[in-house]
Amino acid sequence: MSQALQNWKEEINQCDSLKALEDVRVRLLGKSGEITQMLKTLGALDAELRREKGLEINQLKEAVYLSLEEKRAHLTTHALEDKLTAEAVDVTLSIRPESIGTLHPITRTIEEITSYFAKAGFSVAEGSDIEDEEHNFNALNIPEHHPARQSIDTFYLNAEKMLLRTHTSSVQIRTMKTTPPPIRILSLGRVYRSESDATHTPMFHQVEGLVIDKDIHMGHLKSTITDFLRHYFGIADLPMRFRPSFFPFTEPSAEVDIGCSREGGALKIGSGKDWLEILGCGMVHPKVLTNCGINPDIYQGFAFGMGLDRLSMLKYGLPDLRPFFESDARWLKHYGFSPYLSAGL
Ligand code: PHE
Repeated sequence: MSQALQNWKEEINQCDSLKALEDVRVRLLGKSGEITQMLKTLGALDAELRREKGLEINQLKEAVYLSLEEKRAHLTTHALEDKLTAEAVDVTLSIRPESIGTLHPITRTIEEITSYFAKAGFSVAEGSDIEDEEHNFNALNIPEHHPARQSIDTFYLNAEKMLLRTHTSSVQIRTMKTTPPPIRILSLGRVYRSESDATHTPMFHQVEGLVIDKDIHMGHLKSTITDFLRHYFGIADLPMRFRPSFFPFTEPSAEVDIGCSREGGALKIGSGKDWLEILGCGMVHPKVLTNCGINPDIYQGFAFGMGLDRLSMLKYGLPDLRPFFESDARWLKHYGFSPYLSAGL
């Protein structure tokens, strides 16, 4: 390689922009460029020498041209890369600090209860708000003229006797009919009864628990309920009493009261001389097990049901049930919970 070519190649290599490269190209290969000038001198030479020199200069021209092109390609890619870097959008924009809303106290309570029972191996079972008499009443040992049916103001939907479920116990039936034991489920959702005052609304929420297995007895029921209520209210020695009661679908049945005081008109949970009813429970009636195709001589179980709204009101000191369902943004802002806080109990 001639010294001249080596110098030019170095010069080309050192160009740091397309503009500088273009300047070198014009200076070498342009109309009056150095190499173009050299080619112009050929005409004055005799034929033999012209061919020899012509070949040499053309090879030089070709080599310069190739190295210019190579450098141009390199600078172009870099220019693109630089452009892309300069234009990059930062997709790691941090989350905005302000919250966009709060969790309704019922949502919060549902999360708390679900996460507590999930740790004890319960899974959530879904039912539907619209039910038939079979699942809401008959299979639960509440036949047509049973007094328990008359005491509930049911919303019927049509002549086929479809209805809005009056309790989540209908989900017990749906689960037992489709799932072979052992069963451990929790069902949470809306229920409906035609009643309305400060502590009753036509739609409210219940949570239902059901455990079916071999050798299940009242002791399991008692410890499950006791541990849950103490945990939920955060009071280790929460006074509690299991009072004999009646439900057509459990035998024996009990209602559970927790200790409270109403001194000075303020309700305080966990101390005092008064009692507050909080849930219904019992051992699943053998007839109910049979209705669902489960042999009561092999399997037993317990069930419990409680009002979610009431549990929220008691824990968070909410005096009136009606605003729960009014969607007043000011009420929600005041009584709601940050969605960023963990609901784990
Ligand atoms: N279904 C009953 C009610 O609505 C509660 C309950 C559930 C009682 C399960 C016993 C067992 O009042």
